[in-house]
Amino acid sequence: MNFEELRRQFEADLSQTHDLNQVKCVRDKWLSRENGIITGEMKRLRDLPKEERPFFGHAMNQLREFAETKIEEVRAYVVESETRRRKKRIDVTRPGFPYAVGKQHPIRRLQQEIEEVFVSLGFTVFDLPEVERDYYNFEALNMPRNHPARDAQDTFYFDENLLLRTHCSSVQVHSMETLTPPIRAVATGKAYRRDPFDATHSPMFHQVDILVVDEGITMGDLKGTLEVFLKRIFHPDIRMRLRPGFFPFVEPGAEVDISCIFCAGAGCRICKQSGWIEILGAGMVHPKVLRMSGIDDARYSGFAWGMGIDRVAILKYGVDDIRLFFENDLRFLTQF
Ligand code: DAH
Repeated sequence: MNFEELRRQFEADLSQTHDLNQVKCVRDKWLSRENGIITGEMKRLRDLPKEERPFFGHAMNQLREFAETKIEEVRAYVVESETRRRKKRIDVTRPGFPYAVGKQHPIRRLQQEIEEVFVSLGFTVFDLPEVERDYYNFEALNMPRNHPARDAQDTFYFDENLLLRTHCSSVQVHSMETLTPPIRAVATGKAYRRDPFDATHSPMFHQVDILVVDEGITMGDLKGTLEVFLKRIFHPDIRMRLRPGFFPFVEPGAEVDISCIFCAGAGCRICKQSGWIEILGAGMVHPKVLRMSGIDDARYSGFAWGMGIDRVAILKYGVDDIRLFFENDLRFLTQF
């Protein structure tokens, strides 16, 4: 057995390799467990006379280690040059990977549009808590405990005094506590009620509420402001009408309709042939509500209204199921 000869043959084989596959072939030929040349030589150890085995074994081990080191060196080299070659082949004309650009949720956008209308009319925007005290949501709005009107707003309570606000009308109390008349305040945001989740209800929804308090405020101011607002949000041609309505925190109270935006008042499926669509609740602030928040009701009067933003979105965008706004399906949301 000539170790020098074996080593030379091995090196000659290895010098012919140019890719990973060829490196693997050389490794198999020389080192594979079943029939590698070096492995085969090691197996012959058994047949040698006892006294020759240590020398022979040592030399074969050295040869095996040498082969393994060399193969690893060449393999690393081949991998590196392969990578370098691939990097050079970057195709700068290839179009970039498409990526999705996010956009505002349609409800959020409408909420901002509404706020902007009021800001342009000189209103102060209030950002109010969704977790609210009973006092701000009910008590100070002339709905003491056991008041029947509370039943209509089935409420999520945390405890006796803490709840998820059932409407944004809490802006009336907060703004009267922090501002002095003349007050023009608006709040938008989420409100919660224990309602089913179906095509027309959602336990979480959005509202906009406003309050105006000053000397000599009349129902005429309410109507005028409302008309400006509704024409801006829907269409300059829409008409509006007020019907008597009851809300504990206003007197008189009104339900407000707009002429149907689908049939311009002629009568259709959406307005149930009436030509009108109910859109919000409004009224002159109840003197008790003014007094409870420390406003002199002999000197000041005010008006307030509250409206569901989701309902406006449904009408404006012709959507027939409120749930679509909250299911986060991008196929729906990206249409807006
Ligand atoms: N808070 C009422 C609701 O959630 C809406 C409302 C009605 C607000 C009349 C008002 C109002 O300010 O005057 O249904």
